[in-house]
Amino acid sequence: MNQPLAGRTVVVAGSTSAAGAAVIRMLTQAGARVAAVDISEDGVQELTRAHENVVGYVCDLADPEAVQRLATAIRFDLGPADGLIHLVGGWRGGGGIQEQTDEDWEFLHTSVFTTLRNTTRAFYEDLATSPAGRLAIVSAQAASSPTADGAAYAAAKSAAEAWTLAVADGFRLHQEAGCSLPNKQSPAAVVFVVKALVDDRMRAAQPERKFTGFTDVTVLAEAVERIFGMDAADISGQRLSLTSGRLLGVPAGVLSVG
Ligand SMILES: NC(=O)c1ccc[n+]([C@@H]2O[C@H](COP(=O)([O-])OP(=O)(O)OC[C@H]3O[C@@H](n4cnc5c(N)ncnc54)[C@H](OP(=O)(O)O)[C@@H]3O)[C@@H](O)[C@H]2O)c1
Repeated sequence: MNQPLAGRTVVVAGSTSAAGAAVIRMLTQAGARVAAVDISEDGVQELTRAHENVVGYVCDLADPEAVQRLATAIRFDLGPADGLIHLVGGWRGGGGIQEQTDEDWEFLHTSVFTTLRNTTRAFYEDLATSPAGRLAIVSAQAASSPTADGAAYAAAKSAAEAWTLAVADGFRLHQEAGCSLPNKQSPAAVVFVVKALVDDRMRAAQPERKFTGFTDVTVLAEAVERIFGMDAADISGQRLSLTSGRLLGVPAGVLSVG
């Protein structure tokens, strides 16, 4: 059986939330070595205790120098990165346009965008030259349907989407410079789109709530696994919706993979 993740090194940036735990479980089950990176030391330790193939790294991904040191350490410990799954998030907002505060913007810009910019720059060469290079972020429907209450959040997510699609273009140029056509081994950068995420703990805390339109973290984890087996030509530079409970936005033939 084809196992595109077997022996690959995948960096999960912002790894200790329910989404991170689900993604890491899926990646390790598929045979990947995972670098679990987070600002929370306790969370990272918990992940490394729970999985054999996970090495934990505590890093403030908003600090560009710390991220460069992190990339060097991961290359030394696990080899060059084949995947970067960026899961750092956070939400601030409410109160309409005039109430979108500088503090909230600073938080969102740093957490949503700067951490993505830092990590993609530090791992770009690894991903572009890997036989399975994959970058994925999780954006929100709010980026393309912004509300006044969530203006700063939508703007930060839009910036993250634009940066990710630009990375996809960088990968395409890199591929063309090597005179090869896109194939399964080409690097790819994708934007997953959700309305919101849900996990078992949230469901248990509010058993009466339906969480309509939410994406379970296990669906996100499956989508992350699947992009490693998909042709870059089918997915790179695309916004792939996960709002229906499965991966949408890729050609029908591709949906049957996995
Ligand atoms: N949750 C949703 O409903 C939803 C909706 C749309 C999109 N998304 C996106 O989906 C992804 C996962 O969502 P999530 O709610 O699981 O994310 P999250 O909890 O906001 O962030 C994931 C992890 O990143 C850590 N982190 C924050 N700042 C960091 C930094 N500077 N350096 C290193 N780690 C840092 C967080 O630690 P702390 O907990 O200590 O901050 C957390 O453990 C995010 O990109 C998010 O924007 C989520």
